[in-house]
Amino acid sequence: MRIVVIGGSGHVGTYLVPRLVWAEHEVINVSRAQREPYKADSAWRLVQQVTADRTAEDSVGVFGRRILELKADVIVDLICFTLPSAQQLVGALRGQVQHFLHCGTIWTLGHSVEVPATEDTPRRPFGEYGIQKNAIQDYLLDEARRYGFPATVLQPGHIVGPGWIPINPAGNLDPEVFTRLARGDEVTLPNIGMETLHHVHADDVAQSFVQAIANRSASIGEAFHVVSPAALTLRGYAEKVAGWFGRSAKLRFLPWEEWRKKVAEEAAELTWDHIAHSPNASIGKAQRLLNYRPRFSSLEAIQEAVQVLIQKGIVQI
Ligand SMILES: NC(=O)c1ccc[n+]([C@@H]2O[C@H](COP(=O)([O-])OP(=O)(O)OC[C@H]3O[C@@H](n4cnc5c(N)ncnc54)[C@H](OP(=O)(O)O)[C@@H]3O)[C@@H](O)[C@H]2O)c1
Repeated sequence: MRIVVIGGSGHVGTYLVPRLVWAEHEVINVSRAQREPYKADSAWRLVQQVTADRTAEDSVGVFGRRILELKADVIVDLICFTLPSAQQLVGALRGQVQHFLHCGTIWTLGHSVEVPATEDTPRRPFGEYGIQKNAIQDYLLDEARRYGFPATVLQPGHIVGPGWIPINPAGNLDPEVFTRLARGDEVTLPNIGMETLHHVHADDVAQSFVQAIANRSASIGEAFHVVSPAALTLRGYAEKVAGWFGRSAKLRFLPWEEWRKKVAEEAAELTWDHIAHSPNASIGKAQRLLNYRPRFSSLEAIQEAVQVLIQKGIVQI
């Protein structure tokens, strides 16, 4: 098939585009051509590059037409963040594509009630990002179920891969937390460390898109959580990381209001976003309907990423 990937040179696209090429699809990447994929792969020689700035083209209402003109069978939209942006694309593509796959997020879940949360529980998003992504998800599923627009929504957790910093056991992106655990230094965690994170390897996210395309009839009109088989508690995650380096984690706990004053404002905001969500999502539906089989546990994915951070000197042991 002829597959257009919008935003295909980032975390997910680094793995997804080569997977699609090696499955003998014709692949077109639409991006600003400002960044390279994280991993070299000769598949990229077979990919057509279309250079476009979606934000700029959305604002003048021409992005949908640009994508339509590429005459794709399948569109994978990895970078849609607002409802008007989704509406413009769907408006242009209605009746013109076989399958439209949107990259959503588990942030649309908001506060969970029962965990692991399933896709059929009411979504209660909070925060601008989650609310916008939820509006897009609602819109696409409604378009699919009411009007037959062939949309599928894949909802990743915290995406992990070699080349970038994974969300750490304190729920933010400070690599020093890994360094301190590796060296056996004390690490302070908020509350009692029992809030959760739910990571997923970028290649497993890519796998879910490939499987959704391959299982078109089961995936249209549906949303799927795309995470590792199990979420991590902050405390358990910290203990495991220290264990990789032959250490016992030296952990101290502080109530949130005290903890937040001890870290940079940006790190505290990110931690709050993660612990307020405390995601713990079920992959049962993706396993059943898409045959999604994640290759990495959360810890396996993180360990691979941390090894690369050590090689680059970003994490020091
Ligand atoms: N990161 C996470 O942990 C996480 C978790 C859950 C869900 N998600 C979802 O994952 C998706 C993002 O995927 P990702 O992490 O693979 O993205 P990413 O690594 O940020 O890559 C973004 C891609 O889009 C291109 N791009 C960025 N701005 C653009 C623009 N204005 N016009 C055209 N191309 C543009 C980039 O290339 P150029 O810069 O060269 O244009 C690159 O190819 C989002 O939908 C997000 O909601 C992410």
